[in-house]
Amino acid sequence: MTEKIAVYPGSFDPLTLGHLDILERALSIFDRVIFAVLANPAKTPLFTADERVELIQASVDGRPRVEVAQFDGLTVDYAKSAGAVAIVRGLRVLSDFESEFQMALMNRRLNPSINTVFLMTSFSNVFISSSIIKEVCRLGGNVDDVVPPASVAAMRRKFGLD
Ligand code: PNS
Repeated sequence: MTEKIAVYPGSFDPLTLGHLDILERALSIFDRVIFAVLANPAKTPLFTADERVELIQASVDGRPRVEVAQFDGLTVDYAKSAGAVAIVRGLRVLSDFESEFQMALMNRRLNPSINTVFLMTSFSNVFISSSIIKEVCRLGGNVDDVVPPASVAAMRRKFGLD
């Protein structure tokens, strides 16, 4: 049987427990999941693409059926080149839906053979976003229970807190 591969694209600036929650859910559906780190997102990222990849690797290293890659250009083009049948995106709150819906329909227009699969995050992760976490960490707040240890350490270094 052909392996079912999903691409999980994002900025991952940095990886949060919300992203890892979506990864687990995607692994229960697909044979292989590829974290696809967009190297040059519209918003200037705190971490370089290599750093964002390393932070994901630090959390999933050795994990079977999970890969980490970086890409530029269209997500559908990357997904096609990776042999993926689906793009995975996490949904937290209703306000995520509008832009995600738009993106999914545009991606379908660009490549009708790749479907977007939306996965609901767990209730405890609903308020987690990389941007809010960066702000809280920068201002000295504790984010230990919402991001993996590697992301906390890397943010603290970037913000000159350690
Ligand atoms: O983590 P983010 O920032 O919400 O991820 C957004 C991302 C990377 C999935 C999106 O910006 C994207 O797919 N960018 C790649 C360029 C692209 O394909 N644009 C058309 C999508 S409609």
